[in-house]
Amino acid sequence: MPDNNGEKAPVRGLEAVVAADTSISNVDGVHGTLLYQGYDIHDLAGNATYTETVFLLWRGRLPTQAEREAFRAELVAEMRLPSQVLEMLRLTPPNSHPMAVLRTAVSMLANFDPDAEDNRPEANWRKAKRLVAQVPTIIADLHRIRMGKPVLSPDPNFGVSANFLYMMRGVPPNELEQKAMEVLMVLHADHELNASTFTARVIASTMADMHAALSGAIGALKGPLHGGANQRVMEMILDIPDVATTQAYINGMLENKRRIMGFGHRVYRTEDPRARHLRRYSELLCEATNQKHLYDISRRIEQAVLEAKGIYPNVDFYSATVQHALGIPPEYFTAVFAASRTSGWIAHILEQYADNRLIRPTSRYVGPIDLEFVPVEKRTA
Ligand code: COA
Repeated sequence: MPDNNGEKAPVRGLEAVVAADTSISNVDGVHGTLLYQGYDIHDLAGNATYTETVFLLWRGRLPTQAEREAFRAELVAEMRLPSQVLEMLRLTPPNSHPMAVLRTAVSMLANFDPDAEDNRPEANWRKAKRLVAQVPTIIADLHRIRMGKPVLSPDPNFGVSANFLYMMRGVPPNELEQKAMEVLMVLHADHELNASTFTARVIASTMADMHAALSGAIGALKGPLHGGANQRVMEMILDIPDVATTQAYINGMLENKRRIMGFGHRVYRTEDPRARHLRRYSELLCEATNQKHLYDISRRIEQAVLEAKGIYPNVDFYSATVQHALGIPPEYFTAVFAASRTSGWIAHILEQYADNRLIRPTSRYVGPIDLEFVPVEKRTA
């Protein structure tokens, strides 16, 4: 009788399983709080730039003003892509999903990174800076190429997030747009051991390189149960004719046992603390762009889902209208999430390398045993 781990039942979805020690971020699902390196997300959103947040996640402390400026300039200087990767972006069919392109592009970047196979801390630090700068450029450049427009160089006066908007749209963001983009990037930067971060840590635990871990994480984020939800939120909102029909639309979905994207969470039993800030910027941006009805429909959806299911919005719900009002097409929403989360993934990859043990859980065998082997010519279907 083989050992099938006896009576040890697996924890479905690994819910509540503690799989790592981390100082990068902490989610308290009962009280609805999120910390980055000890700082409350409510203090960081709107007060810290994305550059500062990346520094915080990687270094464990906030930068001084001089450090922040130097780090901003260093990151912006790394935003350009190798010409071969740009060429690959041009070769992708126009209807392929930006997340599929991003996954390929990050994997391809490894082939042109002088430090790709070097896993020493100094090399990993260089790759970290390159990747957090290059991922937003991949998305911006892909969009420009698909619009038949020339790709743009980063503006050395902007940070990564304002440059992303500028390089994608071709017009510099106004003050509200810059602020909203910073907040969006800060809020998506890390979230403890979610599916994609866990994927990154599993890959890093084999001591594979940073590009490998990041490509895997992008693959995990793509799914509709994870980062892919934000695109579907926008598609739903755009499908609802007006506020008056919203309740019936949502009830119809729930009666058909459909999930409402942008709601529910594995860990939060309260509202996702990130939703508060995104709701505010959704209102401000929708108003500023004469699309207040999209915000009003979102509020009505929120009310209907809470009444029917007792479920709250997660980060993806209001990030959809924020991105839409910033002029980002829905098919790019998940990739924008990935651009920000690259910072968190890298923080976790570095943390994993620093104190590594191969992540290799086990399973309970529930298949047949002792089957008799039948030679191929005697087998029946
Ligand atoms: N819409 C409708 N019902 C939902 C729901 C949603 N968005 N999220 C959870 N539920 C319901 C489930 O149907 C289930 O109800 P049941 O017990 O009557 O079957 C119950 O809530 C528990 O759901 P479960 O799938 O077990 O929770 P989970 O922890 O495995 O899933 C998510 C968490 C995030 C995958 C889930 O909430 C979801 O699918 N949300 C929509 C996708 C999304 O927004 N993802 C982004 C997450 S940040």
